[in-house]
Amino acid sequence: MKVKTEEGIRDLRAIWFDNGKVMMIDQRKLPHKVETVGFDDYQDVAEAIRNMTIRGAPSIGAAAAYAMCLAVLSGADLQKASKLIKAARPTANDLFFATDHMYSLMREECDPIEAADGYADMIIGKCKKIGEFGSGLIKDGMKIMTHCNAGALATVDVGTALAPMRAARDEGKKFFVYVSETRPRLQGMQLTAWELGQEGIDHAIIPDSASAYYMGKGIGLVITGADRIASNGDFANKIGTFDKAIAAKYFGIPFYVAAPMSTFDFGTETGKDIEIEQRSEGEITEMAGVKIAPEGSPAVNPAFDVTPSDLVTGFITEKGILNPKNIRKVTADE
Ligand code: MRU
Repeated sequence: MKVKTEEGIRDLRAIWFDNGKVMMIDQRKLPHKVETVGFDDYQDVAEAIRNMTIRGAPSIGAAAAYAMCLAVLSGADLQKASKLIKAARPTANDLFFATDHMYSLMREECDPIEAADGYADMIIGKCKKIGEFGSGLIKDGMKIMTHCNAGALATVDVGTALAPMRAARDEGKKFFVYVSETRPRLQGMQLTAWELGQEGIDHAIIPDSASAYYMGKGIGLVITGADRIASNGDFANKIGTFDKAIAAKYFGIPFYVAAPMSTFDFGTETGKDIEIEQRSEGEITEMAGVKIAPEGSPAVNPAFDVTPSDLVTGFITEKGILNPKNIRKVTADE
């Protein structure tokens, strides 16, 4: 992605390997500062996944791949390393997929840096395909809604939900994107809106609670990403996604989910079996370190929700746009 910095425009990925270090954009500093951090210990990369320095399902998959690479380079016990990396966050399938992928490549004694770079390149290739398949859904003059961040930051580069938008923009289409702020960590406002701004794509940030209001005013398409897709097509994504899918159904608006096949978990039958990460109360009761809730009122903070497959119009993947009812068949036909 092209990023405007004080030194000029830089072409950056969300994560890469350079000179013995895993480098990443510190997403906790955006949108105010584009700051990069580097780690040479796999445990520090696992911690960066846990503390959300890097976030978004495919990007944390790539971070897991690079963490496994560092574990190999330092001669660490790979079984122990993969256990620690997988424990960083529970919901996104890509974290588990990438760790297992690297584990089996390392057993074949592949070069660890080439393998991790290859994983990151593969994700970008899938995102480009998602862009090609999804751009046809975007019509000139359309109003689109998205939630959370499923852009380049969340996917190493290009994006999943944002890939069709980037492609449609490159095709010369004009459209407008409503970005819901995504309480409590504000990935929509601080990451997606920032990315769209860098790309010059017209957009506005809306409160999460204004989604139905704007859907009633001519939204033509909703696209989100996903963190884990069960084999019946139920999927977990950032909290608030389910509300949007219900509202989209009410208004008859197509609701698409963009994700690479690494996000599909065929070992999980339905959405009920997906583990939902519960995060700290403080993310809800405090804002910028200042307590905003009454003393003594507790808060609960699920990071994701599960949207049932019958609210999904289609999954935009690198294999094409899949019918939510036929996912198993599509992969079985490979
Ligand atoms: O908690 P986060 O910031 O890692 O959650 C990110 C999301 O839920 C995204 O919507 C998701 O990963 C979509 S895939 C790019």
